[in-house]
Amino acid sequence: MQNLRNISSQSVFRAVFCIPFVALAVFGIAVSPVPAGAQTQVPALSGPVPDSPAIEAEAHAILAKLTLDQKVELLGGVDNMYTYAEPSANLPQFKMSDGPLGVRSWGPTTAYAGGASLAASWDPELARKVGEGLGRDARARGVNFLLALGVNIVRSPVNGRDFEYLSEDPYLNAHLAVPYIQGVQSQGVSATVKHFAANNQEYDRHNVSSDVDERTLRELYFPAFEAAVKVAKVDAVMNSYNLLDGVHATQNAFLNLKVLKGEWGFQGLLMSDWDATYSAIGAANNGLDLEMPYAKFMNRKELLPAIKDGRVKEATIDDKILRMLRVALRYNWIGPNARPQTVDSLSLYSLADRAAALQGARESITLLKNENHALPIDASKVKTIALIGPDAYPAVPGGGGSSQAQAFEPVSILAGLTSLAAESGANVVYARGLPQVNDIFSKTHFEGDAQIETFANHEFSGASVKSHQAQINDLKPAMWDATDPNPRSLRYTATYKPKESGKYLLLVAASGEDSFSVKVDGKQVLDQPHREGQIPLSTTIELTAGQPIHIVADYVPHTPGVRLSLGLAPESSLISPEALRLAKMADVVVLSIGFDADTESEGYDRTFELPWGQDALIDAIVAVNPKAIVSLTAGGAVDTRRWLDKVPALLQTFYPGQEGGTAVAEVLLGKQNPEGRLAVTFDRTWQENPSYNFYYSKVEADGIPHVKYGDKLMVGYRYWTTTGKHALYPFGYGLSYTTFKFGSLSVPQTVKVGGTVDVSFDVTNTGSVAGAEVAQLYVSEPAMTGAGAKVPRPERELKGFEKVRLAPGETKHVTLSLNARDFSYWDEATKNWKMDAGKFLIHVGDSSESTPLEASITSVE
Ligand code: BGC
Repeated sequence: MQNLRNISSQSVFRAVFCIPFVALAVFGIAVSPVPAGAQTQVPALSGPVPDSPAIEAEAHAILAKLTLDQKVELLGGVDNMYTYAEPSANLPQFKMSDGPLGVRSWGPTTAYAGGASLAASWDPELARKVGEGLGRDARARGVNFLLALGVNIVRSPVNGRDFEYLSEDPYLNAHLAVPYIQGVQSQGVSATVKHFAANNQEYDRHNVSSDVDERTLRELYFPAFEAAVKVAKVDAVMNSYNLLDGVHATQNAFLNLKVLKGEWGFQGLLMSDWDATYSAIGAANNGLDLEMPYAKFMNRKELLPAIKDGRVKEATIDDKILRMLRVALRYNWIGPNARPQTVDSLSLYSLADRAAALQGARESITLLKNENHALPIDASKVKTIALIGPDAYPAVPGGGGSSQAQAFEPVSILAGLTSLAAESGANVVYARGLPQVNDIFSKTHFEGDAQIETFANHEFSGASVKSHQAQINDLKPAMWDATDPNPRSLRYTATYKPKESGKYLLLVAASGEDSFSVKVDGKQVLDQPHREGQIPLSTTIELTAGQPIHIVADYVPHTPGVRLSLGLAPESSLISPEALRLAKMADVVVLSIGFDADTESEGYDRTFELPWGQDALIDAIVAVNPKAIVSLTAGGAVDTRRWLDKVPALLQTFYPGQEGGTAVAEVLLGKQNPEGRLAVTFDRTWQENPSYNFYYSKVEADGIPHVKYGDKLMVGYRYWTTTGKHALYPFGYGLSYTTFKFGSLSVPQTVKVGGTVDVSFDVTNTGSVAGAEVAQLYVSEPAMTGAGAKVPRPERELKGFEKVRLAPGETKHVTLSLNARDFSYWDEATKNWKMDAGKFLIHVGDSSESTPLEASITSVE
């Protein structure tokens, strides 16, 4: 309970600031594509009622009506997104929907700037607004459980789901998760915080064991879950796919019984991720309450005998049912005050919530480079803007996988920029610049046919059936598919004769869990291991005109079809001539590049390099027009080394939701001052990321692939500030069209161990346009930093922040409170939080590496 008090006194519970709906217009022009008054048209809905003796009595009364068979039946889901109904006890099905970027499972919906974007906004009130919008969207569709928010720590830039999660910092995650969850639940919908716990990679996510020491779990990977449970009172939690320290999350006693339900006092429902349950008795006895999407294990066949012979107690089953009943009664989904979950007066097309989607996009777009004030573009002085790149159209509101919400009318950058520029008389011309992936395959012609040998096993062994075809072009993207009952492997051999000399793109793609490996003239150049989902892999090879190469592609399908495509194209032919023409004639170029739902997704990790052809596109465009601004769609850092020095400006848009195109245009043209700040460190290379050496698994004697989290607490800025090394852009960083100054830091000289303290300072807008700054407060304990420290702590940790909106010349006085937990570390010896007596440093500034204000404070017993 001490932890609860600590967290609940933190700044999320203070009304820190109030953000007007239409962001401040930098140059005095307010752009409001969402009709005025849109926010007022929503019915007032209510959240859960607190537990009471009446709820308890009602839950027990319903339980008493159920037979053991019926109770066990209720432990598994049905039809992918429902709980089981038991009409004899008046129990309806409860409906679920995926989040966290939109209520996605039931047709088109509002697609918000969520996850990585929300984190880059550093705005808890926005998180609450998005939560409320999601809650309303859920009620419009009769959804009881929203499968959101994902709060796993962003540990590596290649994790395919980073765009869905929040940040690399537990404090920021907790302070955004709490208002988001409160927002969802305030509308009568249970949020489901996920994926508990240490699910920090997509690569082999069903099989890997995240081996993390307890201190690291407590300080880094748990706090957002802890805050969701203790502060936001989240009503559902979802266990992750991965194992934790060798035991699957869904049957992990430490995770579910000791920590979640024991120490944190979680009273709600613990469900599995979809197909993340591995044992009936293990799951039943170790805290799992609901197996989704159906009772593969926790069913009558498995559990009834176990209950009969005492391996599982009936009281354990009762506890699971009571948890579901209490949640349903708190929300009045059942019982004497039951009300319909669907609110008919709420339209599926929510005009009101478009405002929150737009606000999210405006607040999160982050300006990383802006040499010689390349941005904003003055559209009144510019005649032609060339918009080039695969992410300009269609809109890219989010990444792929279970979070992919289909927006009704997503605004592409093409639509947003063209409309807004036209208001000032500027013309936007557009070219995609690169071919579609299938063009590469369909335009590849080999010397004669490609020969195919098909083996009746996965090992390319024994007799084979021979066939041939003109092209290798059978890709049909599918992430999740049935497993092929008949093992096969296919070997393709082909000869390719280049027409010109130079760099060639070799592009290969298959779908689902299919694996392949490609050799050119006997040398392996590409390797796609068997795993869940994938994106096209590419490499660049140097070829000589007229000199044929010999290609061998070994392909192992894991689904019933054959879905391999392979193609080659000279790099010089990739960039479309019209893109080059448009770039040449334009006054300024906007290059809209990056990932999309097919290349950054749940189910597999993404590449750190940009998708194929994009580096070459930037190079080619910059060569004809150096005024090329890069707008990058990605969940986090990418490899910018080939072009960053050649472009004057870089704008990171993350995945800005359905209104992204409007907001990107506003930032480019100066109608919106960029105010996003990095919630993840931007590395130069994947290899320099501190988790790189501890990311890939090794199968151990137990047959399990273990990922040893040897980076411990040294994740993101904790590593960079502790080592004194510098990433490309630090955590917390982001540019503005104005400038800010920090001053007048006031820190009391002492704080009592276990006590709280207020820290205050001024932030001034020293520029000539309105803007928002994110003031960040970091705490250090010098005696515990560096070599020889008794309990080595990161050099600094974020323990307070506030987004401050300032008119030109305006100063605001900011006060942030620090409590005992903010000074503490997890003490392995006492298995509790510990605040030492001694000296601490307080740093305040605008990024983890730029903290101009510093003062010390001494904690005394
Ligand atoms: C994802 C969950 C999601 C579930 C239901 C799983 O693949 O990991 O986050 O809620 O599917 O769609």
